[in-house]
Order: sequence, then C-alpha cells, then structure tokens
Amino acid sequence: MRIVVIGGSGLIGSKLVTMLSEQRHEAVAASPKSGVNTVTGEGLAGVLEGASVVVDVSNSPSFEDAAVMEFFTTSTRNLLTYGAAAGVGHHVALSVVGTERLSASGYFRAKIAQEKLIKESSIPFSIVHATQFFEFVTSIADAATDGNTVRLAPVLIQPMAADDVASAVARITIGTPVNGTVEVAGPEQFRLDELIRRSLDTQNDPRQVIADPHARYFGAELKERTLIPSNGASLAETRFEDWLSRATAQSETLSLKGT
Ligand SMILES: NC(=O)c1ccc[n+]([C@@H]2O[C@H](COP(=O)([O-])OP(=O)(O)OC[C@H]3O[C@@H](n4cnc5c(N)ncnc54)[C@H](OP(=O)(O)O)[C@@H]3O)[C@@H](O)[C@H]2O)c1
Repeated sequence: MRIVVIGGSGLIGSKLVTMLSEQRHEAVAASPKSGVNTVTGEGLAGVLEGASVVVDVSNSPSFEDAAVMEFFTTSTRNLLTYGAAAGVGHHVALSVVGTERLSASGYFRAKIAQEKLIKESSIPFSIVHATQFFEFVTSIADAATDGNTVRLAPVLIQPMAADDVASAVARITIGTPVNGTVEVAGPEQFRLDELIRRSLDTQNDPRQVIADPHARYFGAELKERTLIPSNGASLAETRFEDWLSRATAQSETLSLKGT
C-alpha cells in the first residue's frame, strides 16, 4: 500500500515511516523538508498520486492561537480536498485525548477544528487520540515555567512513549477506517505535578514545581480527569520509569562520546 505520512520527518512521523516500511508498505515521508507543504498545497497533488492512505502526524510550527488555528484548518482542508481528488480511501489523523474538553486552549480549539473537518469530509477516516508523549514532558514544564517556578495542576495524566504512539498509529493506518475516534494511553496514571517534578529531578533541572489547581495547561484549566482516556482505551506497555532510565542512559552515552 502507498501510505503518505504528512509530518513524516517529525517525532512520530519518522518512527511511523520506519515501522510501515518494515511491514513492506510504500511509506512516503511528506513535509516541507521533502517539498510537500500542506498549508500552501505545494507538492501535495504529486505525493498523493496512487496513495491508499494519508496519515497526518504534522504539527504547527507556532502554538500562538491564530497561527495554530490557521495551520490545522488550512492544512486539513487541503489534505482532504487533494486526498479526495486522488481517491484516498483512508484519512488517519493523530490528535490528543481530552481535546474536546480543552476548548479554553487555542491549541486545542485548532485540534477540535481539524477533527471536525475530517468528520465532515467524504473520506473514510480514523482519528487517533493519544495521551501526552513521555518525550513531551519537558515541553509541558517549559510552557508552565515562570522564572524558576513551574506551576501545574495536580490532576491525573496517563502519558505514553512516542514509540508506542507510532505503533498504535501504524496498526490503525493499515486497518479498516473506524469513522470515529480510537484512544490510546500509557499503562500508568500519575499526578501531573509529580510527573514533571520527577522528570526535572532526573535531569538535575533546578526549577521548582508548585501544585496549583488553577494553573493553566496550554491556556486551559484542568479537572481531575481532563487528560485521562475513557475505559475503552488501548493501553501501551512502556512504563515511564523504564523509558526514563533508557533515555538517561542514552544521553549519558552520548555525552561520554562527546556528542
Ligand atoms: N506532544 C504530545 O504529547 C502529543 C500527544 C498526542 C497527540 N499529539 C499530536 O501528535 C502530532 C505530531 O506531533 P509530533 O510531536 O510528532 O510533531 P513534530 O515532531 O513537531 O513534527 C511536526 C511535523 O510537522 C511537519 N510540518 C510542519 N509544517 C508543515 C506543513 N506546512 N506541511 C506539512 N508538514 C508540516 C514538520 O515537517 P518539517 O520537519 O519538514 O518542518 C514535522 O514533520 C500533533 O498533531 C500533535 O497534536 C501530540
């Protein structure tokens, strides 16, 4: 199957291209780096020729409210229009568990708009809702940092490894369109403030994490279960502590080698 991976150079996209290629599919990485721009339409018609599936794992270069809305709406409209013209039979998109509960955030309003366009289109689709990637934990801290302080709501979070996200997206990509949303999550729940504190401690990061029930997460206040999937979610295997020890060992090896 020819499968076009939009955002194929990104964190999830590059893993997905490798996994699909290993399963003998013709997986094509498409992004501005390879001359395909979903916002301007550049290169889209060419790359979609003969494609059975499009997987959208792209992300906006800017998280500013207007920019991110413009990115996801224009890009998704183009993908669906060019995809329909090319006879694409399955549109897969990666989004976030709890998106529908996070409309106070500009980023999540854009993801809601992206999902709405996909649901209204004529192309059979699967939307994958994943929880926060382990790899994204430092970005969560950075977004919540003021000086030396990181303010986070002490709510539940059930993060997962990017490798497990890519495996789940690969499985859904080669399956039948569900014309709905599938949830995937990590194996364990944490308190958001504790997870970030643990991660910063491991990196000897001196920032102090403060539990604040009203702290905003990318612009939105969180309730106890806003970031938690429903009971039917499929759960990935990799545990945070195992991932953290591997990531720490890897970065120590790299620094020993002077890279
Ligand atoms: N972070 C999380 O915890 C989390 C959780 C659940 C779901 N998600 C979702 O996962 C998705 C992927 O995230 P990620 O972290 O893997 O992304 P990422 O590493 O930031 O990669 C973004 C990708 O988007 C591409 N891109 C940017 N502008 C583009 C354009 N105009 N046309 C086509 N491609 C463009 C980039 O291409 P270039 O390299 O060529 O610039 C890159 O390949 C996002 O939609 C996000 O909402 C994230």
